[in-house]
Amino acid sequence: MKKLALGILGSGKGSNCRAILEQIRDGSLNAEAKIVVADVFDAGILDIAREFGVPNTYMPPGKFRTRLEPSVEVELVRMLQQAGVELVVLAGFMRVLKEPMLAAFPGRIINIHPSLLPKFPGIESWKQALEAGEKITGCSVHYVDAGIDSGEIIAQRKVPVLPGDTPESLHARIQITERALYPEVIARFAEA
Ligand code: GAR
Repeated sequence: MKKLALGILGSGKGSNCRAILEQIRDGSLNAEAKIVVADVFDAGILDIAREFGVPNTYMPPGKFRTRLEPSVEVELVRMLQQAGVELVVLAGFMRVLKEPMLAAFPGRIINIHPSLLPKFPGIESWKQALEAGEKITGCSVHYVDAGIDSGEIIAQRKVPVLPGDTPESLHARIQITERALYPEVIARFAEA
């Protein structure tokens, strides 16, 4: 069976990316990571790509803080298309994607977010959940649209908030669940 060609985008340490690459390596995910792209020069996700022998690149994002410079986004599309990417996987990518990417990969960009959306979109969602006094939070995989964490939800998993949780302990518990959920959802795309 043909392997699903993934392009993985991230800005941070890359633990979700690692979980995906591990499942590809052990044969439980019928996919191939074609390229890993980061908008942060020293992002751990690039080291992980190197460790797994996946082509990777740092893409200077340009002058904006929350999105890519339009010419950079056009270049990103070109890179992903040239690599033959079929599904774009955002794994801790902290910028909003705009028309060039959304038009090039309609219904083919997914993201993982550390809350039970539509609750707590945006940054540090685990902190938002803690401050709101939630007893249960979780993570969501969703399609990416033009909004912030607003696209159609594909799958969610709950995570308890425990007495004495700090933002760090809660985020760590959510991330354990993320690393299980994201490869499972990608496998569904690979089997479709
Ligand atoms: C993950 O918890 C992911 O859900 C979150 O960034 C973290 C990246 O961790 N993404 C967002 O908040 C997107 N709005 P990682 O680099 O270890 O995969």
